[in-house]
Amino acid sequence: MTTGGSAATREAITTALTDRRPAFRDQGLQSGGPPLVLYTSAEAHRSVDKAAANLGIGLANVRHIPVDEAFRMRTDVLSAAITADRDAGLEPFCVVATAGTTTSGSIDPVDAIADVCAREGLWLHVDGAYGALFVLAESARAAFAPLVLADSIALDPHKMLFAPVEAGALLVKDKAKLRAAFAFPASYLTVAEDDLMVDFMDYGPQLSRGFKALKVWAALRTFGVDAFRGTAQRCLDLAAHLATRIDAEPGLELMNPVTLTAVCVRVRGRTDAEHRELLARLNADGTALLGPAVLHGRAGIRACIANHRTTLADIDLLADRLSGFANS
Ligand SMILES: Cc1ncc(COP(=O)(O)O)c(C=O)c1O
Repeated sequence: MTTGGSAATREAITTALTDRRPAFRDQGLQSGGPPLVLYTSAEAHRSVDKAAANLGIGLANVRHIPVDEAFRMRTDVLSAAITADRDAGLEPFCVVATAGTTTSGSIDPVDAIADVCAREGLWLHVDGAYGALFVLAESARAAFAPLVLADSIALDPHKMLFAPVEAGALLVKDKAKLRAAFAFPASYLTVAEDDLMVDFMDYGPQLSRGFKALKVWAALRTFGVDAFRGTAQRCLDLAAHLATRIDAEPGLELMNPVTLTAVCVRVRGRTDAEHRELLARLNADGTALLGPAVLHGRAGIRACIANHRTTLADIDLLADRLSGFANS
């Protein structure tokens, strides 16, 4: 368990770095070899950049691969970028794919990206902080099947398991690699591991740790996994309903294919600046708390159904209000 998705991704990249350069622990990025390069998509969350910058990789060595019309990483461009970097004497080491991008909910083609990573010998991390827990919903399950191919996955129980912050999680396929990055034995740290005792100080950056798993475990025990399955499915269905309402309103433009629960909308004929004003009005009058979106360089308004109390009536109210903007 981590403090959140950002921390999970940073820990995954730390593990990937250590796996690639065993001397990383002793000599850091001064350990020799060509500059390391990390690949992610133009729609990836900024926490990927933040981790790469904080770990000393440098944003100049992060490639933001363009996306297709449905906002998914373009695997052909990824392959070409890796080749170009190798030809330039650099060392590709990691791809961060996203299963549920923040703005549009798009899911990168993880299976095709995994093929590239296998061929090129790169670590594959999947940022599933927003999206991956929709695997609980029947209608979305298949979309997440390729995630088994990843070396590591970031999850956020404080999003779609509705746990109070902070509750992030990192799954790493090879426990020994996580340990190689984070175990720092000392004479005063004397806990011996056995089958029951996993000392999490050896699997992450924290020594003293809050009991983050308790709130997740308690909620699952209290409500049962089916309650979370049902809620995830309901949120998806509400997002689909909002998309249908937007599509039915000629004055509104749906900006993204609605894969998960992020729904981005533009009011036809309004400028980017006017969208910022509309958003401020919507939030100020208390109809709903929406956010800004920029997709393919155009500004819009983003709804994300992420609350287990949201109802169909709430969505209809929001759709009515958006229609009101379109017709005023
Ligand atoms: C795709 C994605 N990754 C990472 C994050 C960051 O998660 P956290 O706030 O838990 O660090 C978010 C948050 O919205 C996200 O949507």
